[in-house]
Amino acid sequence: MKIKNICCLGAGYVGGPTMSVIALKCPEIKVTVVDLNTNRIAAWNDENLEKLPVYEPGLAEVIHQARGRNLFFSTEVDSAIEAADMIFIAVNTPTKTYGEGKGMAADLKFVELCARQIARIAKNDKIIVEKSTLPVRTAQTLQTILDRTGNGVHFEVLSNPEFLAEGTAIEDLLNADRVLIGGKQTESGKKAIQSLVDVYAHWLSPKQILTTNLWSSELSKLTANAFLAQRISSINALSALCEVTEADVDEVANAIGTDSRIGPKFLKASVGFGGSCFQKDILNLVYLCRYFNLPEVAHYWEQVIIINDYQKYRFAKKVISSLFNTVSGKKIVFLGWAFKKDTNDTRESAAIYVADHLIEDGAEIHVYDPKVSETKIKADMRYLWELNGLSEHKIASKLNQIFVYDNPMEALDEAHAVALLTEWDEFKTYDWETIYTKMYQPAFIFDGRNILDAAKLHAIGFEIKGIGKG
Ligand code: NAD
Ligand code: UDX
Repeated sequence: MKIKNICCLGAGYVGGPTMSVIALKCPEIKVTVVDLNTNRIAAWNDENLEKLPVYEPGLAEVIHQARGRNLFFSTEVDSAIEAADMIFIAVNTPTKTYGEGKGMAADLKFVELCARQIARIAKNDKIIVEKSTLPVRTAQTLQTILDRTGNGVHFEVLSNPEFLAEGTAIEDLLNADRVLIGGKQTESGKKAIQSLVDVYAHWLSPKQILTTNLWSSELSKLTANAFLAQRISSINALSALCEVTEADVDEVANAIGTDSRIGPKFLKASVGFGGSCFQKDILNLVYLCRYFNLPEVAHYWEQVIIINDYQKYRFAKKVISSLFNTVSGKKIVFLGWAFKKDTNDTRESAAIYVADHLIEDGAEIHVYDPKVSETKIKADMRYLWELNGLSEHKIASKLNQIFVYDNPMEALDEAHAVALLTEWDEFKTYDWETIYTKMYQPAFIFDGRNILDAAKLHAIGFEIKGIGKG
């Protein structure tokens, strides 16, 4: 079946960029991205491309070319569903914060609502594509809901997990290592797989398009993220050992990464991984293993999260112990709040947890991030503290310990210490000699990303502490 009309439910970090690239590369397909969030849709439709809800290098140009041609953003979910031959589900699947599986399992309520809405609206056969990251065997649940609550039309469910990384989303979509499409190995399943293969074949070669059965595809997504995160936790665990043995973690990573069996990527020691995916997906994997009565497997993967929490805590503890065992009333400048460079996304950013520890010890946190607003930063902290059950009074008082700046130089004035949390390139270009003269002495820098020139900063007079540096 040749696809002419695509609808995507969810205009977030995945739905927005992926559909924009499909629309760009498939001008004969009408692509409508819908969302319940009216503000988000308004931002996607904003004439001013600086106001797009997602910041990604290259995204604005893609939107500029495709929007209004064959790419549309809308809140009219029902009509978009009705008109589509193929419907992507790209809604959020956060970790559950309540009830059974709280803190571990993926919350599938948004996905389930999508399935019920599609079933209610659809008047002809549709291909439903899981784009959200889902626990293995979710397609079976979707199929049941669609068939039991639908109007007797045929639904073919495919799994097409997304592997883009934020900050490089457009590049990852245009030159994907692979796209993965899982479907039933029946005649109609194979036809649906082929329809989606044909969409991607507009710009990817056949060897970049992998097809599997449904369950392999669903499980591969969780597995890919678990493997990537596991490498970061492995190097971060060793960074602690480097600090007490005078080995240098970057040298160790380079030495092992040049072994072609290991490879150099995802071995950069850091203050800890963040982002909306790694922690959520590993917790989900751990939950699934326990559900299927595989406690040893669950325990193995859980260590990846335990080391990541340890790394964030260790960083905060180092700031406190270096500043003579108290940061009470001291001005700590956070350079960066986003979970990585080149994105405005702050979900699960290490900065949030480091700030929490330091604020608990009485610090004033002064933040500068080139892409993250004061509202977002304060909302992130509020969300954590509400989740931890803090009273409104306590939350209000802690929020008063956070200050946010548009100008980094203002933030750095009379600071006791700098904590670099995100690897934004601009931090490397700052005039550190001038910054040194503006700070209290001894002036500390805690480089949570190992991006600054430590020898140069040391020569200026800074006390510089990196990750995994003796
Ligand atoms: P997001 O929160 O940025 O976007 C999800 C959007 O879905 C929101 O705008 C929300 O309003 C909308 N939504 C929720 N219910 C809806 C409904 N019933 N109808 C219409 N819209 C609805 O989330 P995201 O980062 O884009 O992630 C989406 C999925 O993709 C998740 O499962 C995630 O694990 C997965 N994923 C994310 C990334 C990433 O880098 N962010 C990468 C790969 C996979
Ligand atoms: C990740 C996966 O890479 C992507 O394939 C998947 O689709 C979604 O989840 P993302 O979370 O956007 O993408 O970014 P990623 O580049 O993987 O970084 C995740 C976190 O790990 C960031 O906080 C990053 O700073 C950190 N990281 C990454 C390290 O600390 N060291 C590294 O070597 C690599």
